[in-house]
Amino acid sequence: MAERTGVLFVCLGNICRSPLAEGLFIHAARERGVLDRFDIDSCGTGGWHAGNPADPRSIAVARKHGIDLPSRARQLRAATDFARFEWIIAMDRSNHSDLLADGSEPSRTHLMMAFHADHAVKPSKAPDVPDPYYGGADGFDDVYEMLTGACDGLLERVLS
Ligand code: 4NP
Repeated sequence: MAERTGVLFVCLGNICRSPLAEGLFIHAARERGVLDRFDIDSCGTGGWHAGNPADPRSIAVARKHGIDLPSRARQLRAATDFARFEWIIAMDRSNHSDLLADGSEPSRTHLMMAFHADHAVKPSKAPDVPDPYYGGADGFDDVYEMLTGACDGLLERVLS
């Protein structure tokens, strides 16, 4: 079997945005029948929540759409993650610049919303996926909507 393509979703805490992105991407790849082509994971640039499941509000919004989130939070491991994952996907510009500072290859390091069809023409102008941690449940609905569109575009791009 050909080697699997590594896709790593990265946010700050690895409990709200990146576990949701990971779950949505797994779901989209499974629906397309291509899940076995990928090595998919998520992590945080910070390690405060290491070992925890996703935030209950991320789990709830995913479940509302019939999707499970398998993630347990972990911190980025630069030494191994940058070798293992070809696609390093940051949720916002702060995550993106932290990744570059930690040695992530610029050509492999992308902003999540750059893959959304709404931003395909000007990916550098793509919005950040806002951190919903300190807000209410509706923030998680907004993040879900952003991430589903971006996951669809990312899957197309990675498969092409
Ligand atoms: P995430 O959200 O980066 O989307 O997982 C956050 C979760 C926790 C914290 C910050 C952001 N925190 O500071 O604990």
